[in-house]
Amino acid sequence: MEIGFINGEFIDINKAVLPIDERGHQFGDGVYEVVKVYDSSPFLLDEHLLRLEKSASEIRINLPYTLHEVKKIIMDGLSLSQLQEAEIYFQVTRGIATRNHLFPKVPASFTMTIRPARIVLKQYYNDGISATLSNDERWTNCHIKSLNLLPNVIAKQKAFDSGYFEAILVTKDAYITEGTSSNIFVVKNNKLYTTPLTCNILPGITRAAVLAIAKEKQIIFKEESFSTTFLMDADEVFMTSTSVEILPICSVDHNLISNGKPGPITKSLYEAYSQLYSLKGVK
Ligand code: PDD
Repeated sequence: MEIGFINGEFIDINKAVLPIDERGHQFGDGVYEVVKVYDSSPFLLDEHLLRLEKSASEIRINLPYTLHEVKKIIMDGLSLSQLQEAEIYFQVTRGIATRNHLFPKVPASFTMTIRPARIVLKQYYNDGISATLSNDERWTNCHIKSLNLLPNVIAKQKAFDSGYFEAILVTKDAYITEGTSSNIFVVKNNKLYTTPLTCNILPGITRAAVLAIAKEKQIIFKEESFSTTFLMDADEVFMTSTSVEILPICSVDHNLISNGKPGPITKSLYEAYSQLYSLKGVK
């Protein structure tokens, strides 16, 4: 069963609850997280909660609950939903107050949905997906997981309309930042590269897990900026996110990456990542 939660109450997910003057939908004034649940366990939940706390603090929102309380709400919602495989979305906004750019003195709002996890086709993992390059038109604080996703949404839709799965965002000087809802990795001469953590990208939880796996497997990795040319000449390219995990990108703007098939390092990282969530959940 799908579950909704708003400010202290579990509700029917389709129930209309938000007052017009809620700052999330008027200003995009809030932050969010997406957590995947495997076999009833929210994967890497503590990491997601810490990132939520950081994002909220960066935009000066006080969380209405402690992280411990948020965890309890999540676990209660999950058992209510009876879903074993799920996707949990939760957001915190600056609250409900008459529209005014200045911060209101009201408590922050916390809302959550729990739904069956989105299905990513097996074929995408076996054959890889295609991506397109797109100008990164976002603001300068992309390390905050803010509700303001307009440039991401537009780039993703444009990519989809042209038959691509993801848009890879590119700076004015032709460096890769990340995907519209993913981090980007490339493999060249058995070394793994990914964009360094600056305010230009989201510090992906899956990204961090992949780097930890690489370290364990003694795959040399570099958190280094790389250009579109470097990406096009790569041996392997893949994207990471909570929802898609690790997905091979086998062509970019109709140019094949290497032989156009998922590469061995991508496959071994994916295998190790799957083992990680099969073995552990809530800590
Ligand atoms: N998106 N970069 C951006 C811009 C993202 O929106 C996301 C995640 C990621 C990957 O982060 P993580 O590995 O922590 O999921 C990178 C989520 C899934 C979303 O908006 O649905």
